[in-house]
Amino acid sequence: MQFIVAHDYEDLSRRAARVLADLLGSLPKPVIVLPTGNTPLGMYRELLKLALVDRVIFSGAGFIQLDEYASIDEDDWRSLAGWLRRSFLDDANISPSSVTNFRSSAPDGAMEASRMERAIGTAGEIDISVLGIGLNGHIGFNEPGSAADSPTRIVQLTPQSIRSNAEYWGSEAAVPRQAYTLGLGTLSRARRTLLLVSGAAKAQILHAAMEGSVTPQVPATFLRQLQNVTVIADREAVALLGREGGPRLC
Ligand code: F6R
Repeated sequence: MQFIVAHDYEDLSRRAARVLADLLGSLPKPVIVLPTGNTPLGMYRELLKLALVDRVIFSGAGFIQLDEYASIDEDDWRSLAGWLRRSFLDDANISPSSVTNFRSSAPDGAMEASRMERAIGTAGEIDISVLGIGLNGHIGFNEPGSAADSPTRIVQLTPQSIRSNAEYWGSEAAVPRQAYTLGLGTLSRARRTLLLVSGAAKAQILHAAMEGSVTPQVPATFLRQLQNVTVIADREAVALLGREGGPRLC
């Protein structure tokens, strides 16, 4: 595992964008898993700046949605696909045909998850998965209890995830109770994984993820079993690392 300590959020965002830009520049058709949330916003802004200089930076690339709420209209502005379009894809001029999305309104969640797993297979190998981490250690919507080999599937959101999504949905009651996520097993097939972690609020869970016991109760600990993982975390997020004989940071 490569661990990069960024000075602050802006530095983290620039470094993350640079990792993706290098990949985009080195492969004709890279396949990239994209997350939503607050953490990657700065990276998306940096990528858009790079696209102003290199207008074909995203041509040929394929993108895969990491997760999505279930049982909502596909044009619901709160869908994560809509969030990704507004925050990045539209301004980057990335065509919808280059993006593999969950169908949030699919009537049968299990069938939709299998369709997505097959679609990922046909999109090609995943070259890089960009991930954030939830306060409960979730990766995508792989909530605590998710097995390291879990497939892409429909899941129940935990009360903590429902609470942390309440602001986005307007109230806790409005938050969908189920969501789709690429499974940890699906994500483990990526050639490379990039985990972004920012802020003091994430210090405790990053500590558990990096230095605690590997357990499905903290799904992010599964990253320690993968081969090619880069963590970019800012100084606030790494505050609790390396205190108990865990990995020293450099
Ligand atoms: C988003 C996702 C989530 C977030 C996590 C952290 O697509 O899969 O796992 O990465 O909840 O969210 P932020 O970045 O908002 O703290």
